[in-house]
Amino acid sequence: MPADRPDTVTPSPERSAAGTAVAVAVAHPNIALIKYWGKRDERLVLPWTDSLSMTLDIFPTTTSVRLAAGDGDDTVTLDGAPAEGEALRRVRAFLALVRDRSGIRRRAVVESANTAPTGAGLASSASGFAALALAAAGAYGLDLDATALSRLARRGSGSAARSVFGGFAVWHAGTATGTDESSYAAPVPVGEGLDPALVVAVVDAGPKAVSSRAAMRRTVDTSPLYRSWAASSRTDLVDLRAALARGDLEAVGEIAERNAFGMHAAMLAARPAVRYLSPATFTVLDGVLRLRREGTAAYATMDAGPNVKVLCRRADAGRVAAAVREAAAGARVHIAGPGPGARLLDEDR
Ligand code: DP6
Repeated sequence: MPADRPDTVTPSPERSAAGTAVAVAVAHPNIALIKYWGKRDERLVLPWTDSLSMTLDIFPTTTSVRLAAGDGDDTVTLDGAPAEGEALRRVRAFLALVRDRSGIRRRAVVESANTAPTGAGLASSASGFAALALAAAGAYGLDLDATALSRLARRGSGSAARSVFGGFAVWHAGTATGTDESSYAAPVPVGEGLDPALVVAVVDAGPKAVSSRAAMRRTVDTSPLYRSWAASSRTDLVDLRAALARGDLEAVGEIAERNAFGMHAAMLAARPAVRYLSPATFTVLDGVLRLRREGTAAYATMDAGPNVKVLCRRADAGRVAAAVREAAAGARVHIAGPGPGARLLDEDR
């Protein structure tokens, strides 16, 4: 599968300093098959373990960053409404980082639009911060290659480091302490025959009770199962990469499923427990097991919410979607394939 590389952003400091630069970027969400769960450095967003994901071809986020006159507060609009609270704070903190690197003090006007249904549990922070990183780098005139862009996107939200790339991407946790040079994502080649799809079953579109940021902190700090999950995740990654390379969808699915269950087990053992899975989740999981018993390769993974993503062959995606709909009446079901990396739509509009 070709690994998409985002466009390199051409520096334009004079234009930016004059406050006329605009950059617009688009990025897609990704779903991890080997999960990122737990930071060893909160400020730099450095994880304890490597993770590996598939970028989707549905639900892109489009973000524009325009430099405005003056150095006051950034204006941020998300899906047509002014951003507030934690979302606004995170975007402003991210823009401050970009300003520090560019040396341009001007404030920004950010407009971001998701196409995923609200609360679809489709990692909008991954597509959102990947698109924001690319658009902000463009507007502030940072000249970044794909690795540097991934490193930058990571500071907004860890999983965004992977949405910089299309297809499959591994996020290297990195080895250094106190610096983030070695923590970035890179494309992963996969065997020709894989042809995967992810069937996304949205069983609950409501907002999560605990943010993934807070939940992963609590898991690392209090769960007696966290260390063993992290250790097994390292082995899972090696096994998954080998399975991807030989195009073995059954093995990819089995490894992804056990990695996700292990992450949720570690969360359930946290004090107090972090419980994202709901009865509706298990109804879909029963449907996935039935599919497997009937001979269809279908494997589940869940993130920081009750929704289920089912990995299967693209040729089976219609059947899997129908089975999921039957198992969980009321679930909204979407079919995704591997999607493209983040790209700049227009450098100067
Ligand atoms: C369960 O990337 O949203 O989806 O870095 O704190 O912003 P922050 O966390 P975030 O966590 C994603 C966690 C996950 C697993 C994954 O995507 O790897």
